[in-house]
Amino acid sequence: MEKKWWKEAVGYQIYPRSFKDSNNDGIGDLNGIREKLPYLKELGIDFIWINPVYESPNVDNGYDISNYQEVLSEFGTMADFDCLLDEAHQVGLKVIMDLVINHTSDQHEWFVEARKSKENPYRDYYIWHDSVNGEPPSDWVAIFGGSVWEFDEETNQYYFHAFAKEQPDLNWENESLKQDVFRMISWWLDKGIDGFRIDAISHIKKDAFHLPIDAKNVAARYQNISGIGEYLKELKQTFDRYDIMTVGEASGVSAEEAEEWAGDDGYFDMIFEFEHIGLWKKEEEQVPIRSFKQALSRWQYALDGKGWNALYMENHDVPRSVSVFGSDNEEYRVISAKGLAMMYLFLQGTPFIYQGQEIGMTNMKFASINEIDALDSKHIYQDMLAQGIDEQTALETISRTTRDNARTPMQWTDSEYGGFSETQPWLTVNPNTKEINVESQLQDPQSVLHFYRQLIQLRKENETLIYGGFTELISDHEQIYAYLRTTKEEQFFILVNLSDQSADYQLPSSISEKGKAWELIISNYDQPQEPLTGVGRLAPFEARTYRVQVK
Ligand code: GLC
Ligand code: CA
Repeated sequence: MEKKWWKEAVGYQIYPRSFKDSNNDGIGDLNGIREKLPYLKELGIDFIWINPVYESPNVDNGYDISNYQEVLSEFGTMADFDCLLDEAHQVGLKVIMDLVINHTSDQHEWFVEARKSKENPYRDYYIWHDSVNGEPPSDWVAIFGGSVWEFDEETNQYYFHAFAKEQPDLNWENESLKQDVFRMISWWLDKGIDGFRIDAISHIKKDAFHLPIDAKNVAARYQNISGIGEYLKELKQTFDRYDIMTVGEASGVSAEEAEEWAGDDGYFDMIFEFEHIGLWKKEEEQVPIRSFKQALSRWQYALDGKGWNALYMENHDVPRSVSVFGSDNEEYRVISAKGLAMMYLFLQGTPFIYQGQEIGMTNMKFASINEIDALDSKHIYQDMLAQGIDEQTALETISRTTRDNARTPMQWTDSEYGGFSETQPWLTVNPNTKEINVESQLQDPQSVLHFYRQLIQLRKENETLIYGGFTELISDHEQIYAYLRTTKEEQFFILVNLSDQSADYQLPSSISEKGKAWELIISNYDQPQEPLTGVGRLAPFEARTYRVQVK
């Protein structure tokens, strides 16, 4: 397997608005990130991915960009960014930026021009359509709700938007649009950044507009549509001129297509797949463990020896993993946060840690809909009320499911605003910052934070955990995820109970063969461990990693 720096790296995702507020206006900023570089370095990570910090009217918190080459003043200045890049590089951290090229803001000058007239040179940078029999061109629904078509009175046509109506989609069939986008990308790469996370990239091609909506998946008509590869290959040509890493956000891409997207010659170095994370059904409390294991292993096998995975349990769009996949009850909060960490950090791929995940931050109990910022959640809330659901039930559902759970400010200390800011932040701080915060965990060798550090260190010191092959064991088990990482010289065996009940297991004889002296490397329970034999039991959320030399 070809060695690459980004295969050996561990990434850390920063949602800048919620990470650290350096000037006490309640909004996290670039200088806040600079302050925390030593913390990140200590954690052991190798690169940061920063969510959008570009100029934006913030309809979708920075994912509606009005100028790709300016920094939004709330976050600081381009000079601050240059300092951050410089300082990060000095301490050996690489910097990955978010690249949002499926759409812009409706305030972007391209769109401001485009909507002026049908003859405007920028008109064709976006997707316009006449009405059909006095109706919008199709019945397709946008990801954030409502029609994908927004009527523009001035020019008497509709424009297309996959997300909010203030986020018009770019027209990838237009040659000069593409050239402008590629120029912008090169401008950032020439600055010396180390790569991109490419937003919503599976949406850049749309299906024929006369086709009806697919009831099972609102985005199906504008997600991973055949022919998209032509655009992605062109995009890759720009990336290939630099030694960078790329990770595409690829909703709707299945494991069968993994190689095309994230194989050695794929469109990207790796992609964020949605299968394991998407299993979490908003109506259900519990994620089905078997399906979860299957999704992860499917992607592991699809790319083992053929490409590379991006590994993640959280990001800024989903609730906290401890609350969803573990348990945020006092009893198992710490144990399950550690178990989940081990479960995914030792898979084959580049792990991404989302800010706060490394201290086991949990979902928030939002007390009122006014505490919610996320646009999609507000829409869903209104829809629920319209369906006759009462306010309390609607709020509970939103509270459990909103992506704002991931966006509450980072919990640095136990002080009123969690050490994030000295004033009321843009989004409420989770009151459990009293118990869950960086400061106290730094002092506690048993903390989730220390466990993350150890796991990251173990990956660094053991190439087998990076390049070793992947084999799943006892795949039918209803509670335990078990897998091997193997090279010619050694084997690691990872055994994790994903449930809050104890779990009995029986391992294949190859594990317990005589003379195989499995050494316990790390575990999330501190009682003395029995030697590994063919049968045994794991406590709730118990996770262990063993190693053996291969003779
Ligand atoms: C991606 C981002 C999400 C954003 C959307 C539209 O899914 O992760 O936060 O709202 O794209 O840009
Ligand atoms: Ca600030």
